[in-house]
Amino acid sequence: MYQVYIRSFADGDGDGIGDIAGIRARLPYLRDLGIDAIWITPWYPSPMADGGYDVADYRAVDPRFGTLEDADALVRQAHALGLRVLIDIVPNHTSDRHPWFLAALAGGPGSPARERYVFADGRGPGGDEPPNNWPSVFGGPAWVRVTEPDGRPGQWYLHVFAPEQPDLKWANPEVRAEFEAIFAFWLDRGVDGFRIDVAHALVKAEGLPDIPDEHLAGAPFPPGEHPHWDRPGVHEIHRSWRRVADRYDGGRILLGEVGVDDPQRLVEYLRPDALHAAFNFGFMASPWSAAAFRTVIDATLEAHREVGAPSSWVLSNHDAMRHVTRFGRPSTERRHSEPMGPVESDLELGTRRARAAILLMLALPGCAYLYQGEELGLPEVLDLPPEVLDDPIWARSGRTVRGRDGCRVPLPWAGEAPPFEFGPESSRPWLPQPAAWRNLTAEHQAAEPGSMLSLYRAALRLRREHPDLGTDAFRWLPSPEETLVFERGAGLRCAVNLSSRPMAVSLPPGASVLVSSEALDGAVLPPDAAAWFVVGS
Ligand code: GLC
Repeated sequence: MYQVYIRSFADGDGDGIGDIAGIRARLPYLRDLGIDAIWITPWYPSPMADGGYDVADYRAVDPRFGTLEDADALVRQAHALGLRVLIDIVPNHTSDRHPWFLAALAGGPGSPARERYVFADGRGPGGDEPPNNWPSVFGGPAWVRVTEPDGRPGQWYLHVFAPEQPDLKWANPEVRAEFEAIFAFWLDRGVDGFRIDVAHALVKAEGLPDIPDEHLAGAPFPPGEHPHWDRPGVHEIHRSWRRVADRYDGGRILLGEVGVDDPQRLVEYLRPDALHAAFNFGFMASPWSAAAFRTVIDATLEAHREVGAPSSWVLSNHDAMRHVTRFGRPSTERRHSEPMGPVESDLELGTRRARAAILLMLALPGCAYLYQGEELGLPEVLDLPPEVLDDPIWARSGRTVRGRDGCRVPLPWAGEAPPFEFGPESSRPWLPQPAAWRNLTAEHQAAEPGSMLSLYRAALRLRREHPDLGTDAFRWLPSPEETLVFERGAGLRCAVNLSSRPMAVSLPPGASVLVSSEALDGAVLPPDAAAWFVVGS
């Protein structure tokens, strides 16, 4: 599954922002890449306070991205090419310009319109303290005080994310009915499913209790006890969506963005009557170490097997530092964003590791999720000028944390200079592209047998065609420290060297290389390299 971050994929109309026309023009590229499905980030009308994750109308398309008819045409065209289409649904919060929120402001305390959101009276004399101490994910408090229709300072509303993203009240049956209808609206139009934004959010603890200090300081909550993440009541909501999806033929799927790293806890979301799949952020956060990868792979396979759901694997997305840059740093765990300052990254090392990592990931059983541009080996852009930064994290952190724009720079497709055919010649992409990307364009790499793009194409083709990769069979084989070797079925072996020294792995006589991240010397893997071998007859 390939993630299309719509603003930055391809710009058909030349306004500098990616759109549906751009995606349609590049569908043949995606088919040739060898993927099965795309997930498109939100395309709904939005004030773009959080890149479209602030939705003002769930049944329409923002004019910047196209029209509903364009969306329908995209789905038809993708289907004709054998690609399935998932869209992004944002159920935890709406935009503050959504008609429901405008009605909640106008309706005043106690009105039915206010009951669709999480409004509460403030604490302290005059109610001028927030109702509790919850922080917003993007920095600062998670509450904003409103001015009531009579002009007086009034209640507060909850926004776990940006202030422009008021949280819905999922205890209200009207909210539940509305989202079931929204799911049906898009399923009727032929989409193949949904990526569900912060699917572990939604439910808030009764009474909106404070978060105790030790947990504010970072100590984890016991499972199910955080007041607004991963609460037990969330599964019942997912089940109601599953009932909607199951009314449709063609195997429509619900894919959760579930921010839960522990695989046992994660698979609670993946029951035959709940979500079909969820991203594996535990894998994404794994340090560059054989032992750490082995631990997360084992725990993932075991937990998913128990519930009969496909395991999932992911290295990058639009919220995280691009993994070429991450893998080139001394500490390789996932970073959403971090305070400004020099970020050392050895991009040559990071690229080598990224090549090895994709061969590791694509050899595992289950679903693999790719983020646009990783197949080009794009690095994080760390030096975007402050005036172009758009992520709400930048402003909410008092301009100390740059946020996620560095992984969202528009793709370089072809040519020698920006806009690299992201849009028409004269257009200016909404974030500037580095001039050095002339060597990373899709056009340039398609012609280079040793490029990242060629590696992705080769591995994806084998993943589709090799019978052993289409099964669940998986077995570790003994291998030296800091290496991983596993067998898929009887005929395919994947070997990964995560050390900085060449390492020999033992192979049966007659084994031959199917694909490798670096040139091999017999069965010796160079540092930070991986290969697939075919064994047997
Ligand atoms: C998810 C999205 C992220 C967004 C947030 C709030 O984590 O992936 O981009 O900012 O939800 O909707």
